[in-house]
Amino acid sequence: MDLFEYQARDLFAKHGVPVLAGEVIDTPEAAREVTERLGGRAVVKAQVKTGGRGKAGGVKLASDPADAVEKAGAILGMDIKGHTVHRVMLAQTADIADEYYVSFLLDRTNRTFLAMASVEGGMDIEEVAATKPEALARIAVDAVDGVTEEKAREIVTAAAFPAEVADQVADVLRQLWEVFVKEDALLVEVNPLVKTGDGRIVALDGKVSLDANAEFRQPDHAALEDRDAANPLEAAAKERGLNYVKLDDGNVGIIGNGAGLVMSTLDVVAYAGEKHGGAKPANFLDIGGGASAEVMANGLEIILGDPDVTSVFVNVFGGITACDAVANGIVQALELLKTKGEEVTKPLVVRLDGNNAELGRKILTDANHPLVEQVDSMDGAADRAAELATK
Ligand SMILES: Nc1ncnc2c1ncn2[C@@H]1O[C@H](COP(=O)(O)OP(=O)(O)O)[C@@H](O)[C@H]1O
Ligand SMILES: [Mg+2]
Repeated sequence: MDLFEYQARDLFAKHGVPVLAGEVIDTPEAAREVTERLGGRAVVKAQVKTGGRGKAGGVKLASDPADAVEKAGAILGMDIKGHTVHRVMLAQTADIADEYYVSFLLDRTNRTFLAMASVEGGMDIEEVAATKPEALARIAVDAVDGVTEEKAREIVTAAAFPAEVADQVADVLRQLWEVFVKEDALLVEVNPLVKTGDGRIVALDGKVSLDANAEFRQPDHAALEDRDAANPLEAAAKERGLNYVKLDDGNVGIIGNGAGLVMSTLDVVAYAGEKHGGAKPANFLDIGGGASAEVMANGLEIILGDPDVTSVFVNVFGGITACDAVANGIVQALELLKTKGEEVTKPLVVRLDGNNAELGRKILTDANHPLVEQVDSMDGAADRAAELATK
């Protein structure tokens, strides 16, 4: 989960990283009072989850409270790379003498963590990385040792930070590493990390991405979620503990058991769709090993609630959970939805294979639901689902 700048700033502050005071608002008028509180001047900053806000005109200096109202009015509602600005942060202004760059991230290729640092920070770090890679120091960080005093020095030296800020930058690196570890982040980036006119080091902009796999031990992180932006179907699926991802431009709803099977189901449906008016998978949904009637009903409810879906493909390979249990799950799920007044109105193609497939197929045949069709092969079922989707 990517965070907004103000949320990153809050996490930085929690772990001792020096930041500037700021407040988030969503109406221009609110800027007046906040700017007065901040001492009469403020930087107005668009809060959107994308970089390059400065260049896009989403970061503006306001010289007095009335100016802040005007700048906030100009930035609120702005579109920055497809992100609409709903909130701005008013931040204290920094007297910038120098702009640096530091980050920690998970380096999957090298199976380690990586520190990156440069004394050429600011708005063009991507360009620095591309055209002057030697100006961006890259230092591996061992997962067990972490950023020790010594490691922090190594990063400072490699990036050639000036001697007068070396101690402070080393401290900030250790604090940022604490953010990275304690908050279970995949990325912690500060750009710019500035030296102020009076020689202090301050994090002016922060980007943090949190590891969703660590949610279970980070109860505070749920509050950081941007509920307004979440896809409503994905949010509903998450509430029910389903592994669901909505896909763009699809019309065949997909339910399967096991992530690998579902992934290959997406492929065969996309392939079959080439013959059938460009039908495409509308989602990824893995109901996992124990596909109970309730899980199946929850899955069907989510998928049938997607207005883009015009047919559904249920692809199950029976393993520990045998096909008869899954078939019973489907039958009960259809009943359950009917009693809830959400009767299935879209065709369902079911393919059962593996453990107790025969028995499972018989259960569905006996149930004789008018919209449920069975096809025994995965390719055949994908083809039929794609055909029905475009009918
Ligand atoms: N609080 C601040 N005081 C003074 N200048 C700032 C402040 N925040 C940002 N800036 C300036 O604006 C530039 C862009 O802001 P930043 O927060 O880095 O947004 P982005 O990276 O999305 O462009 C910074 O490089 C810095 O020069
Ligand atoms: Mg920045």
